[in-house]
Amino acid sequence: MARIWAVVPAAGRGTRFGGELPKQYLVVDGLPLIAHTLAALFAHDAVEGAVVPVSENDPDWPCWTEFAGKPVHACTGGASRAASVLAGLRALPDDVRADDFVLVHDAARPNLSLTDLSQLLERGRNDPVGAILAAPVRDTLKRAGDDGGIDGTEARERLWRAFTPQLFRRLQLTRALESATTDGVEVTDEAMAMERLGLRPLLVEGSESNFKITTPADLARFAYERAQRDC
Ligand code: CTP
Ligand code: MG
Repeated sequence: MARIWAVVPAAGRGTRFGGELPKQYLVVDGLPLIAHTLAALFAHDAVEGAVVPVSENDPDWPCWTEFAGKPVHACTGGASRAASVLAGLRALPDDVRADDFVLVHDAARPNLSLTDLSQLLERGRNDPVGAILAAPVRDTLKRAGDDGGIDGTEARERLWRAFTPQLFRRLQLTRALESATTDGVEVTDEAMAMERLGLRPLLVEGSESNFKITTPADLARFAYERAQRDC
C-alpha cells in the first residue's frame, strides 16, 4: 500500500466545550487528546506522518517533531477549520505528490478504530474522488420552530452524519478549499468543498464510537470507552 500523510487540524479553541485549555489538549489516561488521535492514525502502517495546524504561538502544543516513530510537522492554522486544513495541505512535505491521497482527521476525534481507518483507506483509494467515514442517521428528525415547538418531521432516509477521516487527493482538495474561500462559502468538512465542484465522494460506514469531542459529556464517554477497551 502506498504511503499516506495525514492533516490533523488542531487550531480550534473549543468554545462549546468551555474552559481555558483547548479540548485537543485535555488529558485522558495520561495523554492529551491529540496524542490519542495521532496514535490512532499512526496505528496504520500506511500512514507515514502528520501535519498538525495549531493556533499561532500555541502555548499548549507539545512541540512534537515525531510521535510513535513517525514525523509530525506543526504549522499555523487559520480562523476556520477549512483555513486550518488548507494551511496543513500547504505544509505537507514536497514529496507528497499532487495526486497522492491525504487523510484529514479532526484532532478532537480521538477514538478512531484501526478497522474503520483500514476500510476508509481500502475503499477510498479505489474511488476516483475519495471517501469519508460516516454513519446513517438513525433517530427521527424534527424541525424546531422559533418557540421550541415542532414544526414538522424531516425524512431521514439517505441522510448520513459526516465523520473524519476524510480522504482526498492533495491538489484537488487544495483547489476545492481555495474555491470555497474565494466564493465566501464556509465549508464544514472537506467533502462539502469537493461536492461544490460537482464531485461525489464515497460514503464509508464507520463506527459511532468515532465521535468528536464537543462537550464535557463527550470527554467522559471517551474516557469510559477507552477504559472498557483496555480491560
Ligand atoms: N479546528 C481548527 N481550526 C479552527 C477551528 C477548528 O483546526 N479554526 C479544528 C479543531 O481543533 C478540531 C476540529 O477542527 O480538532 C473540529 O472542530 P470543532 O470540533 O468545531 O473544534 P473547535 O472549533 O475547537 O470547537 P468549537 O467549535 O466548540 O469552538
Ligand atoms: Mg468549531
